[in-house]
Amino acid sequence: MQADLDRILFDEATIHRRLDELAARISHDYRDRELTVIAVLTGSIILVADLLRRIPLPLKLDCLSVASYHGDVKPSGDLIFRQVSLPDVAGRHVLILDDILDSGATLASIREKIETAGALSVRVCVLLEKKKTRARAVDADYVGFEIADEFVVGYGLDYMERYRNLPCIGVLRKALITPAA
Ligand code: IMP
Ligand code: MG
Repeated sequence: MQADLDRILFDEATIHRRLDELAARISHDYRDRELTVIAVLTGSIILVADLLRRIPLPLKLDCLSVASYHGDVKPSGDLIFRQVSLPDVAGRHVLILDDILDSGATLASIREKIETAGALSVRVCVLLEKKKTRARAVDADYVGFEIADEFVVGYGLDYMERYRNLPCIGVLRKALITPAA
């Protein structure tokens, strides 16, 4: 898998050191408020496991699965399982955890839904933030690393559902990326 990378941006040790710092800040900021973490599946799954074990506070964890396709037209016999209801966030201090802030569309929609559902406070934590102008302004409160606007995989991030289990984060070789039809 590693051979498919053009270059490694962050190795495992670098990611873990940064998680120590992020976890310390989050633990300090939420020391007197009970935290509800909402993990955006699937890309955040490795981050959630590694980050939350560094936060020694009582907290609740919920997951949100957002489908990237719209409409439910599927051949009959094809079952679609996805979470349709929002976790109960009324009166709670919510921290949304996601892998990467790219266009901002995903996080802007999720944030809006959670605020409308009556959360007391909403913050966003992402491992990576791409440096670019975004169609929808989203401010992440906790950012692991800023990166250039290029396609990365590993540590939860996928290309066509592969590479999530790479322990590092790297730029995928351009030749392996199929142009969108
Ligand atoms: P958005 O464009 O900010 O809404 O990002 C939506 C989702 O696209 C992210 O949560 C990732 O799952 C995926 N994504 C965006 N950029 C990358 C990338 O460089 N590598 C892998 N997945 C990405
Ligand atoms: Mg993805």
